[in-house]
Amino acid sequence: MTFHIGAKPGEIAGTCLLPGDPYRARWAAERFLESPRLVSETRGMLAYTGTWHGNPVTLHGTGMGMPSMSIYANELIRDYGARTLIRVGSCGALQPQIGLRDVVLAQAASSIGSPSTSIFRELRFAPVADFDLLAKARAAAPVPVHVGGIFTSDTFYDERSDLTDQLQRHGCLAVEMETAELYTLAARYQRRALSILTVSDHILTGAALPAPDRETGFAAMIEMALHAAFA
Ligand code: HPA
Repeated sequence: MTFHIGAKPGEIAGTCLLPGDPYRARWAAERFLESPRLVSETRGMLAYTGTWHGNPVTLHGTGMGMPSMSIYANELIRDYGARTLIRVGSCGALQPQIGLRDVVLAQAASSIGSPSTSIFRELRFAPVADFDLLAKARAAAPVPVHVGGIFTSDTFYDERSDLTDQLQRHGCLAVEMETAELYTLAARYQRRALSILTVSDHILTGAALPAPDRETGFAAMIEMALHAAFA
């Protein structure tokens, strides 16, 4: 057990799929895993371990934002030995060619700062996805998929329109709130990480997915993540 995860040693798999919403962890575990078992519910952050085609997998919620992601990713990596960490989440699209329900594979994650920023001092570290996971997820995509840079924000209700302009001008595909820190931790501990993101809203038009559609998109991401991890 750690400060924030109640699982016993050996109860977390080497491959972890990480939705922000803990209820999504339960939903995906019940739908995709063989014999899923609740292994942690500390602070309501549900975690399930089971198998997919015989391969051990853990689904663990992360909460929203980099500080929360950082806590869970640090403990999964350092205390439980997780080797492959795949975020399955949502994002807001920043480019006109990207539609609601499309999937974005985050090749790199820009940010203004992350929980790791202070250790880098003057260095502007570039957090990137694991290439092998990225290529395999793209090959398994059942829906339109876009591969490129994203922006990891600290604010959902962002009022900086000048920042949005710069991100768009530089080809940034989408905005979300966790990936830069996940990729940085994976780099530090030589683990594999990828973020697979469904477009839930469009920053340019204000369009947003209704709740039932989010579930369908979520299923597609889980399948891509499982194929990427074990292909
Ligand atoms: N902003 C930040 N994070 C998000 C968004 C957004 O518009 N949509 C989904 N995650």
